[in-house]
Amino acid sequence: MMRLKHWLTLGLLVTTEVTLCSATITQSMLFMLKQGHRVTVRGTAIGQISGPDVTLHVCGMFCGKLDCKLFHYSSVNKICAIFAEAYYAVSLSPDPDWEVGYTPASLVTFQKWTLVFRLQKEIYVPAYQTWMDTGTSNDNPVQNNFPPACLRMFDYGSCDRHFRSHILDNWNGIDKVYLSVIKNDTEVAYIMFNGSGTDMQSWFDKANVIDSTWFSEINDTSLLKTTRIKGICMKQFCRRFLFYGPYVGCPTEWFYIMVQDFVPDLCEKNLKWVPNTAPKAEPAIAYSPASSRASFGVDRDVPLADFADAMAVYVTFT
Ligand SMILES: *[C@@H]1O[C@H](CO)[C@@H](O)[C@H](O)[C@H]1NC(C)=O
Ligand SMILES: *[C@@H]1O[C@H](CO)[C@@H](O)[C@H](O)[C@H]1NC(C)=O
Ligand SMILES: *[C@@H]1O[C@H](CO)[C@@H](O)[C@H](O)[C@H]1NC(C)=O
Repeated sequence: MMRLKHWLTLGLLVTTEVTLCSATITQSMLFMLKQGHRVTVRGTAIGQISGPDVTLHVCGMFCGKLDCKLFHYSSVNKICAIFAEAYYAVSLSPDPDWEVGYTPASLVTFQKWTLVFRLQKEIYVPAYQTWMDTGTSNDNPVQNNFPPACLRMFDYGSCDRHFRSHILDNWNGIDKVYLSVIKNDTEVAYIMFNGSGTDMQSWFDKANVIDSTWFSEINDTSLLKTTRIKGICMKQFCRRFLFYGPYVGCPTEWFYIMVQDFVPDLCEKNLKWVPNTAPKAEPAIAYSPASSRASFGVDRDVPLADFADAMAVYVTFT
């Protein structure tokens, strides 16, 4: 059976003929168009055609036949190139000679991983509340006006919102969960969890850790006091997504990851943490850049912690 794609949005309509089970089916695809742009960063071209007959429509058909999700086309140079990536996994640059065509996404995927949450630092929108905001989602399908910068893990400086998948409200058949910490366009830390038999909060538990940049220490579960998404949230501090050691006061306490949500942290305000690390706003993604625990404390005996730019949570399904 061939599943036909119907997109009720404006763009370039392309029909291609596909032969399946000795029947010819006309498949319609609608590409969204972004004029005056071309793919520049991180696109892997999987095909290119050029010549006087290569129109925008021909380019769309070329892409459609090879089941590609993204192309760019220059009407000036009559060049068409198609790409392996989805539109959110590349960067576009302004160029008046080019236009970009892409298929809208239902889910945001990177290889076998499906993005279920992406947290952007310092945008004044609480992390935990967004995670728990049942019924609100940005995918299935991804809205056409949702900023691609908030779906990718590089070139995200213009991102102004968190991403929340509908999968959080339907946490079934989850195999693994992968939490990734992003800074300066690079993954700087991760934890992989066994998501089997968990719910949308309980996967985040030291008992479920399969692998991590901090694995050899996290594996020693006696070190950890609190590991919870909800964390500890009070008037003076609000720490979420907490992978945290024993509470021994601001100057010496340590952690692997925590998201400072909602309010500036008491320890920071009391100057018991190293100066100049203070984030501009919440949420702030604090993490250990070392292979072990870290701390902001002025009397710490472990490496200095740092703040990240973004945090992403992906899942695979059984
Ligand atoms: C960010 O990454 C780039 C490219 O890898 C590197 O040249 C630059 O020094 C990094 N910046 C910081 C602040 O780490
Ligand atoms: C994940 O957890 C399930 C249920 O507890 C268990 O059966 C399975 O062996 C675990 N998988 C891994 C890779 O640890
Ligand atoms: C992690 O813990 C398990 C169970 O306690 C143990 O079998 C394993 O050797 C540990 N791995 C490391 C790298 O410490």
